[in-house]
Amino acid sequence: MDKNVLDAPILSIRNLSVWYGNSEPILRDLSFEVKRRRVTALIGPSNCGKSTLVRCLNRLNDFTPNFRLTGEILFNGQNLYASEVDATEVRKQIGMVFGKPVPFHKSIYQNVAYGAQISGVKPSAQLDVIVEKSLRSANLWDEVEPILNETPERLSIGQQQRLCIARALAIAPEVLIFDEPCGELDPVETPKVEALVRNLKQDYTLIFVTNKRRQAARVSDFAGFLYCGELVEFGATEKIFTNPQDVRTEQYVTGRLG
Ligand SMILES: Nc1ncnc2c1ncn2[C@@H]1O[C@H](COP(=O)(O)OP(=O)(O)OP(=O)(O)O)[C@@H](O)[C@H]1O
Ligand SMILES: [Mg+2]
Repeated sequence: MDKNVLDAPILSIRNLSVWYGNSEPILRDLSFEVKRRRVTALIGPSNCGKSTLVRCLNRLNDFTPNFRLTGEILFNGQNLYASEVDATEVRKQIGMVFGKPVPFHKSIYQNVAYGAQISGVKPSAQLDVIVEKSLRSANLWDEVEPILNETPERLSIGQQQRLCIARALAIAPEVLIFDEPCGELDPVETPKVEALVRNLKQDYTLIFVTNKRRQAARVSDFAGFLYCGELVEFGATEKIFTNPQDVRTEQYVTGRLG
């Protein structure tokens, strides 16, 4: 990719405010940029608005009654909420992996192939290649190759989560959002997903929501600290964790707040 394109932010969030109904805003005047092929962590205590924010980034909040936003979210320079933008296309380019893995009641193969099929891939030879590549990228291929035609119920929760990551990769998104992807995982599976996230940034832009401070420090290049709907501080992860500018960030990263 051209260096100028690589250096340009893939997402620019400008003065974003969000409401559900007529109450106080859930997010207040957030501005930050997401760099391409980096991991950006969004951290903060429960209810501070992390999920609300990432759901704005791939237009998942379109389905939420009374949802309203002001400000702009630019994706590759294009306003995501412009009237000519197709939200389904946005969700293909900006994928989401949730905390609780929810595989389909189909074979392991079909779970991943589904992703490619909704992006328009039809020939089975091509699907085979995408399924293998996606499962390899999700560090799951070796564990499931002999059981591709079986359903995911027999997989551990951690394996199911990596299957959901493979399904998201098969759609070939540019950006992949993880909303607390290790929330349901045990201490053996959690480092596998963290390692995966670090590897995936060679090819994708990752946004990683977590309320585990040390996890954000381990996986991310940039971090934003949200508190009560406000983006208190955003910057290089090392700086956020070792030399924060705002006293609230300092209290949060040292475990004294939230
Ligand atoms: N659909 C909705 N309608 C009304 N209020 C909502 C809706 N979804 C979230 N909220 C409110 O918005 C606020 C932020 O919630 P959000 O889920 O974004 O926080 P979060 O930081 O992701 O929390 P957690 O760490 O627990 O996942 C909360 O007060 C929540 O009750
Ligand atoms: Mg959340």
